[in-house]
Amino acid sequence: MIIVNFKTYREATGSNAVRLAEICEQVAKKTGAGITVAAQAADVRSVADFVSIPVFAQHIDAVDYGAHTGATLAEALHEAGASGSLINHSEQRLELRQVDACVKKLKSLGMTSVACAANDEEGMNIARFGPDYIAVEPPELIGGAVSVSTAKPELISNSVKKIRCNVLVGAGIKNGNDVAIAKKLGARGILVASGIVKAASPERALTELAEAMK
Ligand code: G3P
Repeated sequence: MIIVNFKTYREATGSNAVRLAEICEQVAKKTGAGITVAAQAADVRSVADFVSIPVFAQHIDAVDYGAHTGATLAEALHEAGASGSLINHSEQRLELRQVDACVKKLKSLGMTSVACAANDEEGMNIARFGPDYIAVEPPELIGGAVSVSTAKPELISNSVKKIRCNVLVGAGIKNGNDVAIAKKLGARGILVASGIVKAASPERALTELAEAMK
């Protein structure tokens, strides 16, 4: 599984989000790799209407229908076409009890939950809530030039060993070698943002990752 997190990059916002999702879909078709895009809440509907690959949200709040001005409601994202969501991303942290509530909420809606963790310890804490995936991303490597696979391969193997859940890894992933290392160490997939969104050719960059994931 490859999740391309669009974050709030200009290259992946509004009509650009739809265009980039279409590229991701083409790469998924061409390579046979499982590729999911995580779009901003405001773009989920337009992206999901346009592509047939899974579209995730980047965040949900631990709230139900009601008076929660400005909150991101999972039910609304589900209705808009999101089939899953990231939660507790390093750039949108939640308290542990909120992570628990969000996992339960996603489960009740039949949506896939990808709970992020900064390290293996946090991943183990979150795994007891039973998310579908735990994505381990060292915050200091996110958006950087050095990947988690190069800088912290032991974090990947420790996470796979200790966390009783499907483990994804992310941070700084840019090329096929990063993916090959993560896969070899037992990760079930990767999360990537800048390596695709900011690439000169997102199609070429994603194709390389997808080929390495096969
Ligand atoms: O969610 C994926 C992300 O945080 C990794 O970002 O830019 O290092 O690929 P990036």
